[in-house]
Amino acid sequence: MRKRILILPGDGIGPEIVAEAVKVLDCLRQDFGLNLEMDEALMGGSAYDAAGHPLPDATLALAREADAVLLGAVGGPKWEQLDISMRPEKGLLGLRSELGLFANLRPAILYPQLADASTLKAEVVFGLDIMIVRELTGGIYFGQPRGVRTLDDGQRLGLNTLTYKESEIERIARVAFDIAMQRERRVCSVDKANVLECTELWREVVSGIGNDYPQVELSHMYVDNAAMQLVRAPKQFDVIVTTNMFGDILSDCAAMLTGSIGMLPSASLDAGGKGMYEPIHGSAPDIAGQGKANPLATILSVAMLLRYSLDEPEMAERIEKAVDEVLDGGLRTPDIWSDGCREVGTVEIGDAVAAALSGQ
Ligand code: IPM
Ligand code: MG
Repeated sequence: MRKRILILPGDGIGPEIVAEAVKVLDCLRQDFGLNLEMDEALMGGSAYDAAGHPLPDATLALAREADAVLLGAVGGPKWEQLDISMRPEKGLLGLRSELGLFANLRPAILYPQLADASTLKAEVVFGLDIMIVRELTGGIYFGQPRGVRTLDDGQRLGLNTLTYKESEIERIARVAFDIAMQRERRVCSVDKANVLECTELWREVVSGIGNDYPQVELSHMYVDNAAMQLVRAPKQFDVIVTTNMFGDILSDCAAMLTGSIGMLPSASLDAGGKGMYEPIHGSAPDIAGQGKANPLATILSVAMLLRYSLDEPEMAERIEKAVDEVLDGGLRTPDIWSDGCREVGTVEIGDAVAAALSGQ
């Protein structure tokens, strides 16, 4: 059956890296018969500039119709002065929330070829394979009340609220346990239960769901300790499940273990397997337009898209194998360059992955 995906290039380096991902998809269509239709739409700052809103209705409608969404990145200094409701990030949060994409999967895998590119000692990260499961449509990102208000004494009060309903915790916990069943069967739930009641409930509910998965070893860790353990001994983790904001922070931290944040894909899934796929890095305005951004996280996001939303695991493996080959060949964008490798740009890496695919 013909599938439809929506492409949202976004801002900054977004269009450059997405172009390479589309190149890879085109190659799968031409050489391996992938039956796919692609639409493209505006999101983020570029959508604000063109249509006056970071998530135009037309984009949302296309996203609802699509089987999956591929996103580059959004945001940049150009839009930082806008009211928070019109910022590019609001488009992204709106899409996550409107599509019900509550489960954010952020794998942190170290390619052995890149062990020297990590800022940590090679032996600390060699063999690293962690899956961070981040709750994505609740918590302090969405809790009410929020805003800035003026108090009786005239000073302003900034306010955000951390909330989780039991059902929100249950469903993300199940995702984490189900994934752990396919891996090493260990889940570490990260919270701040010593201080925050909301995450005390989180701990209790996750433990309850854990009873349904007797084969999975469940542990709990406070977020400050988890941040430390991630850089001290990251290989102790298999699956980490955590709240929206803790997951945001810990996944950046985990990304750096792998050498570059430019390598990590992500999937944001709803209850039915529909998803939005994006590299976990941002729009990198400092290098936008220079042709040196690493497109591999986006290309690997396409692999996740094929696996989780289009039920095409073999196509996903083809991409992952092609990326592996390109790294073996020694081509590197500047962010993952190390001695003895050849530095190339965004387009060359995309071409090399497409060539490796066609050669399979
Ligand atoms: C991420 C990003 C987003 C987030 C921003 C751009 C809103 O940092 O996907 O990790 O905080 O979720
Ligand atoms: Mg983030």
